[in-house]
Amino acid sequence: MAKISVLGAGSWGTALSLLLFNNGHDVTLWSALPDEVNMLREKREHASKLPGVKLPEVMEITTDLERSLKDPDVAVLAVPSPFTRSTAHQMAPYVREGQKIVNVAKGVEEKTLMTLSEIIEQEIPNADVCVLSGPSHAEEVGKGLPTTCVVSSRTRETAEYLQSIFMSPVFRVYTTPDILGVELGGALKNVIALAAGTADGLGYGDNTKAALITRGIAEIARLGVMMGAKAETFYGLSGIGDLIVTCASVHSRNRKAGYLMGKGYTMDEAMAEVKMVVEGVYSAKAAKGLSEKYEVEMPIINEVNKVLFEGKPASEAVMDLMLRDKKVETPMLPWED
Ligand SMILES: NC(=O)c1ccc[n+]([C@@H]2O[C@H](COP(=O)([O-])OP(=O)(O)OC[C@H]3O[C@@H](n4cnc5c(N)ncnc54)[C@H](O)[C@@H]3O)[C@@H](O)[C@H]2O)c1
Repeated sequence: MAKISVLGAGSWGTALSLLLFNNGHDVTLWSALPDEVNMLREKREHASKLPGVKLPEVMEITTDLERSLKDPDVAVLAVPSPFTRSTAHQMAPYVREGQKIVNVAKGVEEKTLMTLSEIIEQEIPNADVCVLSGPSHAEEVGKGLPTTCVVSSRTRETAEYLQSIFMSPVFRVYTTPDILGVELGGALKNVIALAAGTADGLGYGDNTKAALITRGIAEIARLGVMMGAKAETFYGLSGIGDLIVTCASVHSRNRKAGYLMGKGYTMDEAMAEVKMVVEGVYSAKAAKGLSEKYEVEMPIINEVNKVLFEGKPASEAVMDLMLRDKKVETPMLPWED
């Protein structure tokens, strides 16, 4: 049994705290929001975010960050990406040397273009920062539906330790050393999901969705490889796996926000309707910034930015994607002639 602190009591933090508790660990759930902690202590359920998923009475739920970080074997950081830096900053004074912190949020910081693990390492230099990602909607993990993820760490030993902590008969975990690839796949798929949702809202079909998923992972991988990540990672759970689920699932808030924009909502109206942090909107600008910094062509990401921030009609963006210059699908493969 390990002692685990889950920091962030939204949908994902709540679902993971139950998964880890059911795996036999001693789990504390922390939230920055006193009202949320009071509600969770009283009702043992996050009715607005994860209805029907009950937390056990014995699980400690607290706003006390110092206490949460006193001596956990593992800290799981599950706050949405816009709060990763501020939460890591608050954590720093209480984190002991070598503390394993598993980031499970997905995003890239708009201003600095840093990944979330880079942000955590900057704020808490003495921590051992790892990542868990993959196609894993909290609603389904909360219900115990079979799910697969990947955990990434610098060392095999830590990755295998975390694999054994999270793994259960309904939650299968793989390992990889490619932290950067895992993080980029998780962050950038949200931008493609906005496009996939918009296509649904416009009434386009499955062909369009498949095109966005396939060409989307191609541009994410192109960028990732230029940044030093491994191509293989993008064809795994945290890459194409997460992209498929996010573009197709009814649970995806990014897809839903995109759908509303396809139906004519503005970005602000769509975000207000979804009532949750739509991380793809934040990651879209960062993705564009990365594509410019690394001089990688990212046509879908580019068009999503134009629709989100320049008022370009989505149907026009689709037409511009369809009418780009003719391309080879496999630029690295040689021809016979
Ligand atoms: N929901 C999922 O299915 C899922 C699955 C995998 C990964 N993720 C990732 O996990 C992260 C969290 O997602 P979520 O679905 O739990 O989001 P969420 O919108 O449900 O999280 C909201 C929670 O964030 C916390 N919070 C709010 N304001 C805060 C502040 N100022 N400082 C610190 N914490 C604050 C509160 O606990 C609040 O309940 C995201 O990056 C998401 O991409 C989510």
